[in-house]
Order: sequence, then C-alpha cells, then structure tokens
Amino acid sequence: MQKRVYIETYGCQMNENDSERILGILAGSNYLETGEAREADLVLINTCSVREKPEHKVYSALGRFKELKEERGAIIGVAGCFAQQEGERLLKKIPYLDLVIGTHAIPQIPQLLQRIESLGERVCETGFDRDGKYLSLTVSPSKPKVKSYVTIMQGCNHFCSYCIVPYVRGREKSRSSHEVIGEVRRLADAGVKEVCLLGQNVNGYGKGREGELNFSELLNRIDEIEGIERIRFTTSHPADLSEELIEAFSKLRKLCRHIHLPFQSGSNRILKRMRRGYTKESYLEQIESLRKISRSIAITSDVIVGFPGEEEEDFKNTLELVENVRFDDIFSFKYSPRRWTRAAEFEDQVEEGVRHNRLIILQGIQKEITFQKNLDLVGSVGEILVEGRSKQSDREVSGRTRSNKIVNFEGDLNLVGKSVSVQITKAYPHSLRGEIHSISDCG
Ligand code: SAH
Ligand code: SF4
Ligand code: F3S
Repeated sequence: MQKRVYIETYGCQMNENDSERILGILAGSNYLETGEAREADLVLINTCSVREKPEHKVYSALGRFKELKEERGAIIGVAGCFAQQEGERLLKKIPYLDLVIGTHAIPQIPQLLQRIESLGERVCETGFDRDGKYLSLTVSPSKPKVKSYVTIMQGCNHFCSYCIVPYVRGREKSRSSHEVIGEVRRLADAGVKEVCLLGQNVNGYGKGREGELNFSELLNRIDEIEGIERIRFTTSHPADLSEELIEAFSKLRKLCRHIHLPFQSGSNRILKRMRRGYTKESYLEQIESLRKISRSIAITSDVIVGFPGEEEEDFKNTLELVENVRFDDIFSFKYSPRRWTRAAEFEDQVEEGVRHNRLIILQGIQKEITFQKNLDLVGSVGEILVEGRSKQSDREVSGRTRSNKIVNFEGDLNLVGKSVSVQITKAYPHSLRGEIHSISDCG
C-alpha cells in the first residue's frame, strides 16, 4: 500500500538537499511525499543546530506533531544536525518520537523504518559514514524542476571556534567528480536549467582525493554540460579562495556572477579568535580582485556580532567593512554558544542585550545598502530564469537574475524554465519588479 511522508526542513541548503535525497530514498520504500502533515504516515523534521534558535524550532515542531502520533499512529522522526547532536537523548526526552537519524545515516532510513514498522522499536542511528554511501546519494527529481542543488562534499575541517558544523557533519570529504558530473547530466536530462553546487567549503573541493579535479576544474567540466544554463555554488571560504576560481568568473559563461563569501567579522583580533585564517585586509583584496574580474559581480556574506570578547571598536570595524564593501546582501547573526566549540568556553561572553543591539544596528545599515543596490538596477535589462508563480500575484511569475536577485513580472506559467529578458521597473527592499523585453527558450 502506498504510504505518505511529510517532511519539514530547517537550516541551510545542504539540509534542503538532504531532504530531497531522503524523499528519493523513501520513494523506493513506497513512500510518496505529501504537503499535508495530517495525511502523513511518516512525519520527518530535518533539523539544524548551528544556533540556538533553530533548536527551539525543532521542539515546537515536535509539539505540533504529537497529535498525529496519538490520532493516526504516524511514525515521527527527527533527522539532520540537531538529531546528530542529541542522539539517544532526544528519544529519552520525547516519548512519542520513533526515530532519530544522524546526518550520515540517511541511506539507512529504509532499514530503520522497517525495525519501527515490524518490531515496534524506537531507533536512533548517529554513526558517521565511513564508506561514502551518504555522499553517493543522488537526487532524482520526481516533478519537473528548474533548479536543483548538487552536494559535492560533506563536512568541514576548518573548526572555526564558534561553529558546530564539523562536529555534526563530520570531516570534510569530497564526492567523486565522476558522480557529480553524472548527477548534473541526469538533472539536465530531466529539464533542470540551474545547478547549485553545495558544500561547507566548496573551494576546498578535491583535497584528500588523489588525482581528483580541483574545484575550478570541476566547474569547467560542468560548464560544458548541455542543457545546464546556470551554475552557482555555496559556500566559499576566504582562506581557500584561489586566483583560478576568481578567474572562472570571467571565463565560464554559465557561472553566475555571484559569490557568497562569509567574512564573519571586520576585526582582525576577532577573526583570529574565530580561527578564520584570514585578515580584514586579505579579504578586502579578494573583493577587489573579484570586482576587477567582473565589475557587476554580486557579493553576499555572513556576519556574526557579539562574538566573545568583541569590543565596541571591533564591532565598528565590522560596520566599516560592511559600509566599504557594500554587499548586495548579508546574513547576520548574533553569536550563539554551541556545544563542543572552543568559543563557548571563552570567559568574555558578550551580554545578550549588547549582541541584540549590535545586530539591529548592523541590519539597519545593510538594509539601506541592499535597497540602494536594488534601486540602482531600475531601468536595466537582465536575463531572468523563470522559476514559478510569484508569491505576490497570480498574474505574475518569479525568477532570478544571474546575480541572484528575485524579480517578479507579469507573465504566463508557460514561461517557467525559460530565460526571459526583463527590464527592471521598480525596486523593493528584497525584490525587484519588471516587464518582459524578450523571451528566449534556451532549453
Ligand atoms: N561553511 C560556511 C558557513 C556555515 S554556517 C562558512 O564557513 O562560511 C552558516 C553561518 O552561520 C556562518 O557563516 C556563520 O555566520 C553562522 N554561524 C555559525 N555558527 C554560529 C554561531 N555559533 N553563532 C552565530 N552564528 C553562527
Ligand atoms: Fe563552520 Fe567554519 Fe566550517 Fe564554515 S568553515 S562550516 S563556519 S567550521
Ligand atoms: Fe544547520 Fe547543519 Fe546546515 S547545523 S546550517 S543544517 S550544516
């Protein structure tokens, strides 16, 4: 009998990609995805533990699903980074939870489900994968899609002093380029036009795999794949950004002119305590080189405020960097102490009130810059890859510029998957509106 799975995902794009891979595996066990938790036989929450806030979301989601267990006997499971962090503790804490699946245990889901279904056990699997099965999992879209993520590596070896990722995702390991290229080809055959290559530190791709391509070489190979129109990647680490990769932005036609390059802090003292392995000056040089290679490249970043020991002066350096670089956008976070990390042990933790105020100040400044950058685009014409219906209106479709900005414009749903030349007519703080100039079906 056909069963139904409902999955809720928190955290980064790697987690979104993992959810797609979970759905792919479950399809092989006769589970079909549903968007309605009420009709699900299996409810999964794919979790994040990078800061405290996403952790709270897991408990509130679990609270919502308790009823489904009582009323329908649905199997309730938690996957992802928080599951990896908590393991058995979660089963003890939540009596109606059936399943805890760590980050590397995704390929084992069918066997784990069988133990729950036929033996009535409550199971937890958080062992790290040694044979690369997790990395080899592929995504095969069940419905036509315009863009897709492709995981190219797992884990992280950087051990930034604030970050839990290396502990919950394990050590850095690259997937074979043969597999990556094969997956991109299959996606292209299924009609996907844009791929985003994923890893915590994609420019370290290939390290530790003898004879493997490096990241720039991998991009070259993907650029040749017919049917793919756009390539993106995330995340790059400033400590590993090579000249070769910077040059790829001028050489590769399909590589979108956008880079997400987290700087975290504008203070060298704090960067050192964060163990980031670069300075404010070397970061600014990279920005200059990127803009020299491609004048219009969009640059986004991540920033943490209130890291232990951050003084007013350090925070000012961060604001200065943000004002100098004028990022297209930033994701900014209050520092959140994490289990197992060095920074959580530092004695000079910054008060919550100070962290909060600094975040508000930083976000206020960036909001203006993002809006101004959007205003600068009014009147320009850009190529938009249409992704679907706009959230605002039934008469509008929505897509992104090559620089990753959202544009809504009047148009029919048959434009989905097509590249449309659009003139920007209006700017909003987080999106743009436009009018069709011309349509080209590059597919
Ligand atoms: N691998 C990526 C980032 C992964 S985590 C990189 O190195 O850039 C995404 C972002 O969450 C980080 O860039 C950082 O800004 C933020 N982050 C990670 N740990 C955090 C913590 N303990 N408190 C606040 N923000 C954190
Ligand atoms: Fe975390 Fe640093 Fe690794 Fe990014 S590079 S995942 S911030 S440890
Ligand atoms: Fe969160 Fe795990 Fe991603 S901690 S940010 S879901 S790698």
